[in-house]
Amino acid sequence: MEEKRDQKLQHHKKENEEEEEEIVCLDESFFINDDYQLTNFTFGSQQIQLFCLHSASTDFDLTGQLVWPGAMLLNDYLSKNVEMLQGCSVIELGSGVGITGILCNGFCHKFVLTDHNDEVLKIIKKNIKLHSCSEDTSPTSHGLIAEKLEWGNKDQINEILQKHPGGFDFILGADIYILIVYNPTYIILKSYA
Ligand SMILES: C[S@@+](CC[C@H](N)C(=O)[O-])C[C@H]1O[C@@H](n2cnc3c(N)ncnc32)[C@H](O)[C@@H]1O
Repeated sequence: MEEKRDQKLQHHKKENEEEEEEIVCLDESFFINDDYQLTNFTFGSQQIQLFCLHSASTDFDLTGQLVWPGAMLLNDYLSKNVEMLQGCSVIELGSGVGITGILCNGFCHKFVLTDHNDEVLKIIKKNIKLHSCSEDTSPTSHGLIAEKLEWGNKDQINEILQKHPGGFDFILGADIYILIVYNPTYIILKSYA
């Protein structure tokens, strides 16, 4: 009798162990597509190349992995009005893959690309690296700089302003929406202070 109970217990234990072995743990990278493709874009007479996805990842917060229509429109406008930003310093909100900064790098004095998403910041930095040796950097350019910025995060805004005490001539953003209206105003006021 005792022996039979032991056998049953052993059998249950084995079954449990087998079940545990079947549990597959997925870390967050399973849900992130970072198979970026080097892609060509043309704005007016300017051609640029950068890494981006061609369709969105499963995570709604990874919208910045691809180029949005707003950035295409903004870049089109800027490429036709280069003199507007000539020699200026710019901060961009919600930069995504960084297509606007990369276009402006040729004629801006300084362009700070920001985003709140760490995965998006990785692709911004990859694209900055791709362009760091590019020949279209003007002699006055301080180049492209990536910074983490969640809209309305005062600590992050102050950190950026400490690094760039002169503020910025322009704040750009394409295909972004602002949930808390007074926070961007704070950025503008501080930037022009
Ligand atoms: C629709 S995408 C636009 C990306 C790029 N500007 C374009 O047009 O291709 C919105 C971007 O804003 C960023 N974003 C969304 N909410 C944000 C927040 N609260 N703070 C900072 N960035 C944010 C996303 O990570 C994403 O890169």
